[in-house]
Amino acid sequence: MSNSYVLGLDLGTSGTKTALFSAEGEQLCSASREYPLYQPHNGWAEQEPLDWWRAAVETIGEVVRESGVDPRQIKALGMSGQMHGLVMLDEKGETLGRSIIWADQRTGAECEQITSLVGARRMIEVTANPALTGFTASKIMWVKNHQPDVFERCRHILLPKDYIRYMLTGDFATEVSDASGMQLLDVPGRRWSEEVCGKLGIPLEMLAKVYESPDVTGHISEQAAKLTGLSASTLVVGGAGDNAAAAVGTGVVRDGRAFCTIGTSGVVFSHTNQLSIDPKGRVHTFCCAVPGAWHVMGVVQSAGLSLRWLRDTVCSDEVRLAADRGVDPYDVMSEEASESPIGANRLIYLPYLMGERTPHLDPDCRGVFFGLSAMHKRGDLIRAVMEGVTYALNDSVNILRGMGVTLDNVLAVGGGARSGFWRGMIADCFGSPIGVPERTEGAALGAAILAAVGAGIYPTVAQACDKIIKVKSTQYPDALNHAAYTNTYDLYARLYPALRDTFQALKAL
Ligand code: XUL
Repeated sequence: MSNSYVLGLDLGTSGTKTALFSAEGEQLCSASREYPLYQPHNGWAEQEPLDWWRAAVETIGEVVRESGVDPRQIKALGMSGQMHGLVMLDEKGETLGRSIIWADQRTGAECEQITSLVGARRMIEVTANPALTGFTASKIMWVKNHQPDVFERCRHILLPKDYIRYMLTGDFATEVSDASGMQLLDVPGRRWSEEVCGKLGIPLEMLAKVYESPDVTGHISEQAAKLTGLSASTLVVGGAGDNAAAAVGTGVVRDGRAFCTIGTSGVVFSHTNQLSIDPKGRVHTFCCAVPGAWHVMGVVQSAGLSLRWLRDTVCSDEVRLAADRGVDPYDVMSEEASESPIGANRLIYLPYLMGERTPHLDPDCRGVFFGLSAMHKRGDLIRAVMEGVTYALNDSVNILRGMGVTLDNVLAVGGGARSGFWRGMIADCFGSPIGVPERTEGAALGAAILAAVGAGIYPTVAQACDKIIKVKSTQYPDALNHAAYTNTYDLYARLYPALRDTFQALKAL
C-alpha cells in the first residue's frame, strides 16, 4: 500500500492545482498555474479551455518530475473542477471557442425559455433546481439562440474537468456530482433526463457517459503519458465538482456533516443520504461524490472574489506592505480589518458583484456599500466586505436550518478560511463552532481520495475519509459577538428587498 500514490487535480477559476498524495493521504508535492478570466461585458465570464489544458499538463508534469516517484506507482488520477462551465467540441474534438463559465450571468432570457419549455415545477422535480443562469443548460440555450452556427457544429458537450479528462484519456465521460449542475440530469435518478433534454432540443448523443464519482472512467492515453510524464497504466476516476470533491477532502461524507468554503465563490454544503429539495429552489440539491447520496448547498457568487476585487482596486498600499514584509496581502488586509469594530462603523457591503444565487436567484443585482461616510477608513471597507460575504453565507445557513439540516459543527475551507480572523467572524455570525481540517488541500485531496477508492486502495469513500481526514482545531462562537452580528445581519437582510427594483433600473440605464 505504501508504494502506491494517487494524484488529485483541481481545475479552479483562478488556477489549476495538482497534488500527489501517498495512499495514506500525505501530500508529497504540488504545483499550480493561474490563467485569465475574460469579462468582455458586464456580467459575462469566460475562460479558454486550452489554458486549462496547458495548466493541467504543466502541473501534472511538474509534480511527477519533482516527486521522483516511479510513474507506474501512481495508481490513479482524480479530478475536481469548477462546475457548470460549457465546453463545446466539434467532430474532430476541437473546442468551439471559449467556455462560458459558472460565474457568467448573461442567460436570464434563456432561463425563462427553459422554465416555459419544461415547466417550473417539473424542472425542480427532475433537476432538483429551478433554471439558473449559472448552470450549463441555459448556456447551451444561449449558444443555440445567439450562435446557431456554433451549435450546428457542436458534437460534444463537456464540463471543464471532463474536457481535461477527454484530453488525458480520449474518453467522453462525466460523473453525477458535476453533471447535476448541468440541469440536464435527473438528479433523483442519477442519469440524463431524456425528458428535459428532449424539451430543450439537446441531443443525448452530445452528452458524456455518466459514472459515479469513484468509478474508473478510463486510463491515461499514450499521447497524454508522453506529454505529462504519467504512465498509461494510471487509471482515471470520475472525480467530482469542486464542492463535492471538497466535501470528500474534508470528510463531509455522512449525514450531519457540513462545510463552508470561501473560494472565488462561497458555499455552505451539507451531506444528505435522503434526497431533500428546497421547493423554492433557493439552495441547490446535487448528487454528491458518495454513491447513492446527495448534498444540499447554498452558493454566494462573489465571496473571495469580493475581497480580491477590493485588493486589486483599492488596496495597493496593503499589497506593497505585504511585499515588503514577505507576507500575503490578505494577511495585511485581515489585520487592518480587525482594527475596525463589528459592523465596520455602520458600513454594510452587499457582495453581488456577479449577481447572486442563494437566496435571491438574481443575475442583475450588483455590489453595494451601504452607509459610506467620510469617517470610514480602508480597514472599515475591508471589514465590511468580509462581513458582507459572511452575512451572505449566513443566508444559506438560515435556509438549510429551515429545511431541518443540523449545522452545529461546520468545517471551514478555501482560501478565505486561512484567515483565523475570518473564521472567528463566521463562527460568531453563524453561532456555531467552526472546525479546521488538519489537511487543507480540500478539493484536490478529495479528488485524490476518489482516485484511491477507484484504484481499490480503500473499499468506500467514507472508509477512506475515516483513515485520512482529521479535524485540527475548532473555533467557538462568542455569545456577545453573535448578538452584535445578528443585529447588523438583520439590517443587511433588509437591503436587497429594498433595492431589488432599482437593480433592474440600473440594468436598463
Ligand atoms: C457551484 C458553483 C461554484 C463553482 C465554482 O454551483 O457554481 O462553486 O463550482 O467554483
